[in-house]
Amino acid sequence: MGTDKDIRSSSFSKTNNQPSFIIRRCTFNDIEEVKNVNEKELPEDYPFFFYKSILDNFPESFLIACLKSDPNIIVGYIMWRVERIPSKDSLRLVNKGHLVSIAVLEEYRRFGIASALLSKSMPEILKKSISEYVLEVRVSNEGAINLYKGFNYKTETVKKKYYKDGENAYYMVCKIEEE
Ligand SMILES: CC(C)(COP(=O)(O)OP(=O)(O)OC[C@H]1O[C@@H](n2cnc3c(N)ncnc32)[C@H](O)[C@@H]1OP(=O)(O)O)[C@@H](O)C(=O)NCCC(=O)NCCS
Repeated sequence: MGTDKDIRSSSFSKTNNQPSFIIRRCTFNDIEEVKNVNEKELPEDYPFFFYKSILDNFPESFLIACLKSDPNIIVGYIMWRVERIPSKDSLRLVNKGHLVSIAVLEEYRRFGIASALLSKSMPEILKKSISEYVLEVRVSNEGAINLYKGFNYKTETVKKKYYKDGENAYYMVCKIEEE
């Protein structure tokens, strides 16, 4: 697990032949570009104030990936929020870390960027005393499902017609192992 400083700005590259990336926290000035990446890569779009509210409330886990050669170019992002909802087996309220959105520009995929965004943001949202990580993913989105499985997410239920176009979602959960 990295330090806060590592999260604010850390770089990596898979091999010498591939572009290097920096993972850092999103700032207010980055929101417009993050919104552009989202609109290019996902059918679920959000208004500016939604990003702003995530940034205001959960800045530690709202991360972006930028090109090391030109840090103004944002090629991916991840954002989380904490939701307080009843636990599955009682009316007790528990905190869950909900993956709101993740996307990487198509031309920068399969370089480990989404994995880096997940690896660096999950420990941050864990600090909010969550009992598990949760997310929804389109049942047809094999790439994302594979990515999440690699991080130990398991399908808990299917949410019927979760998306506006009627597609079902897998509700995937990654339990937090007690130490
Ligand atoms: C899903 C997404 C974020 C993955 O980003 P990425 O940076 O390419 O992911 P990574 O390079 O970290 O991939 C890690 C692993 O996930 C799996 N994976 C990722 N994309 C995959 C694909 N298209 N097909 C199969 N497996 C895939 C692989 O196991 C991969 O490891 P490998 O490259 O060593 O085989 C990206 O495809 C994307 O932005 N898609 C559009 C937006 C989206 O669907 N977001 C998720 C909404 S729930």
